[in-house]
Amino acid sequence: MMNGLRILPGYLDLTAQQALVKEIRRIATVAPLYRPRMQGSGRPFSVQMTNAGPLGWVSDESGYRYQPHHPVTGQPWPPIPEPLLALWRSLTRYPAEPECCLVNYYGQGARMGLHQDRDEEARDAPVLSVSLGDSAVFRVGGPERGGKTTSVKLDSGTVLVLGGAARMAFHGIDRILFGSSRLLPKGGRINLTLRRVTHPFLAD
Ligand code: SIN
Ligand code: FE2
Repeated sequence: MMNGLRILPGYLDLTAQQALVKEIRRIATVAPLYRPRMQGSGRPFSVQMTNAGPLGWVSDESGYRYQPHHPVTGQPWPPIPEPLLALWRSLTRYPAEPECCLVNYYGQGARMGLHQDRDEEARDAPVLSVSLGDSAVFRVGGPERGGKTTSVKLDSGTVLVLGGAARMAFHGIDRILFGSSRLLPKGGRINLTLRRVTHPFLAD
């Protein structure tokens, strides 16, 4: 597979996964999950989202962007939990902290179309993602739309890093194997994506 793509199954043990679920519950009480809308059409996503960190990724009719407040409550996003910052430091070695922890919740039937993560200035920083709960069929290709893709099952506790040439790889979630894990009592899948947004050495 592509240079810079790291898939680490079982990187987080059950205890670490449960601790993260607790952190996510705390985040969701301050910054509730909501359903973003597609650029242009305004069609709702099948995935529900929230964020932690100084900048949250949001999407609505006017497009994709990062912003410091929740689009529904208007409140600032809660801080990124320390265990996730530790994971970022040890796996990316990037010389600055992530600014966004996007929380995606996939219920039954939710999916995510193939896309690139390209709303960040700091594309030299890898993207780190954590899978919790039901397994997902993840699809990953190259840096061009329409290129060859492969699919990989991401089980709970898997950590994935898109760095180097894989930083701009097209990727998405074909489907969730609903009910495949018992981590989340109501089922479904949580994906946490950590990203550096602004360039740490070009601050104005
Ligand atoms: C994403 O690319 O935003 C989510 C990927 C995933 O759910 O694993
Ligand atoms: Fe993505």
